[in-house]
Amino acid sequence: MTLINDRTAQTDAPVLDIVSERWSPRIYDGHSPVNEDALRSALEAARWAPSAYNRQPWRFLVTRRGSSAHETVLNSLIGFNQGWAKDAGALVVVLTETVGEDGSPLPEARYDAGQAAAYFTIQAHANELLVHQMSGFDPAVVSQAFSLDETLVPLTVIAVGVLGDAGDADDAVLARENAPRTRRPLSESVLVND
Ligand SMILES: Cc1cc2nc3c(=O)[nH]c(=O)nc-3n(C[C@H](O)[C@H](O)[C@H](O)COP(=O)(O)O)c2cc1C
Repeated sequence: MTLINDRTAQTDAPVLDIVSERWSPRIYDGHSPVNEDALRSALEAARWAPSAYNRQPWRFLVTRRGSSAHETVLNSLIGFNQGWAKDAGALVVVLTETVGEDGSPLPEARYDAGQAAAYFTIQAHANELLVHQMSGFDPAVVSQAFSLDETLVPLTVIAVGVLGDAGDADDAVLARENAPRTRRPLSESVLVND
């Protein structure tokens, strides 16, 4: 089985090309390093995401394939994710701060950090870095390995890299890569449209 589907979304209303063309691949080139300028640009886009009270309650652990930090993050992934994400040039952990400087909870923190991740993702794709976010990892492993304060919570790991050769992927991955990209109709998400 080879990669046959065009991954571009068939949208019901016009969207920016970057929105329809972005997808979450599971086939990365295990030899290509991540483009450092492109990665820095994606992190800069995340920096400029909006956030409640401009608190910017996000932090990142940027780990590149071959480093010991990368090894640690890779080992925190569930088996299925490890199988394909190992080839990505970098694994970036998205963290969120759960409390403010005065120790009070930040109710919007996860929302804000997710938004920063979305900015990262779109900018990375525009920079020809393919991105795949994952919640299939053990945050406790990451927290312990990097001695994170308990107020700093790992939310996701983002695989970042260059598209690989579909011929090198196993059948389980290929089946997912060939599955049609779907979304429920917009009318089911917009509950009120008065
Ligand atoms: C927060 C989050 C967690 C995800 N976790 C995983 C994961 O652990 N493993 C995986 O293969 N894909 C994961 N995904 C990818 C989703 O399955 C994917 O975004 C979704 O199926 C839509 O596909 P698309 O991004 O190609 O449009 C995750 C995506 C997000 C946003």
